[in-house]
Amino acid sequence: MIDVNEIRKDFPVYQNHANLIYLDSAASALKVKDAIDQVDYYHKVLGVNAHRGAYHLAFETTQLYEAARSTVARFINAAEDEIVFTRGTTTSLNMVAAAFRDILNEGDEIITSELEHHSSLLPWMMTAKKTKARLVYVPLTPEGRITASAFQSVLSDKTKVIALTHISNVMGYRTPIEDIVKIARTKDVVIILDAAQSAPHMTLDVKALDVDFLAFSGHKMFGPTGVGVLYGKKHRLSQIEPFEYGGEMIDEVHLEDATFKPSPMRFEAGTPNIAGVIGFAAAIRYLERLGMDKIDAHVAALTRYTLDKLSQVEDVTIYNPKDTHSIITFNIKDVHPHDASTMLDQHHIGIRSGHHCAHLVARFLNTPATIRASFHIYNDFKDCDALVEGVIKTRDFFQSF
Ligand code: ALA
Repeated sequence: MIDVNEIRKDFPVYQNHANLIYLDSAASALKVKDAIDQVDYYHKVLGVNAHRGAYHLAFETTQLYEAARSTVARFINAAEDEIVFTRGTTTSLNMVAAAFRDILNEGDEIITSELEHHSSLLPWMMTAKKTKARLVYVPLTPEGRITASAFQSVLSDKTKVIALTHISNVMGYRTPIEDIVKIARTKDVVIILDAAQSAPHMTLDVKALDVDFLAFSGHKMFGPTGVGVLYGKKHRLSQIEPFEYGGEMIDEVHLEDATFKPSPMRFEAGTPNIAGVIGFAAAIRYLERLGMDKIDAHVAALTRYTLDKLSQVEDVTIYNPKDTHSIITFNIKDVHPHDASTMLDQHHIGIRSGHHCAHLVARFLNTPATIRASFHIYNDFKDCDALVEGVIKTRDFFQSF
């Protein structure tokens, strides 16, 4: 069992906000002390560039930066040269979609879904516009899931790209990506998985998943903001053009032409987010020590418990009543989600309200905005009770007018 009181000692935010009931980890998780210390160490003890200098501080910095790459590679069962550090999931997914502007042709099809976060949808929408390729949406089940059979119904010889979310940031439902990949591999397709919501609390094994690209962010995994990962199969990374050009990604530069290093360096132009990268690696080591299966079981138990209690509250509509991961999306009758958020804040509860950067999901749910609670390892059943009590008080307050 996870001892949440012990866990909270690892998250300094709780020392500054003792009453905090943080239920917005899907937006950004709290930062773990190990990661903060590592960022601090870089700034206080090193503070120099990586990959460039021949003095000992530069050498240690490069070592730490590359050790972070090994940590990430181990975490998702990839090879080190398949790990590209980026600014976050958004940048990772944009890098791939931008590269496909030179690869796709008119009439090619990109399979995506209405469950996508804008970061997984808009880059492909823009690539489709530029190349005259077509976006094809997997029909969702009435409850808002992607199924393998629905996927199969839209797969065709024209399909060239499959860009899907692993876990929806609004519905929490998990895409049956293993089944989808098996079906998709009958065609010559490139599969991109948005793992921003899955990497923080489940084991990811890219070899088993057999996707071509996968993206996730440090800040949702107890690490710093501004750092993330693009995983790509080696041969796939070598097929795409760099997103940016500049320092340390070149092989040779001549007056009219240049050649570039192999992956991952060809995708890391300019001074990288060194502090962020080594802080992120510390956060990953923390997750590994806790154990991803334990984390998954903990948040699943909190989610089930809260869904059970919240479903008994009158005038609450839950949009994903069968979620077993970490997200609960709901509305309170006659209360705008932003008002609910403000009111819950008075009870020290932090939740997200709005469209959650996923307009198509809001349209699917037929509501402009929702309230979203999301859990992580530092939450306990008392947090869940507080949320349910807060929702009841919010409902009663607004309905009393
Ligand atoms: N993608 C993040 C969320 O779902 C920001 O809130």
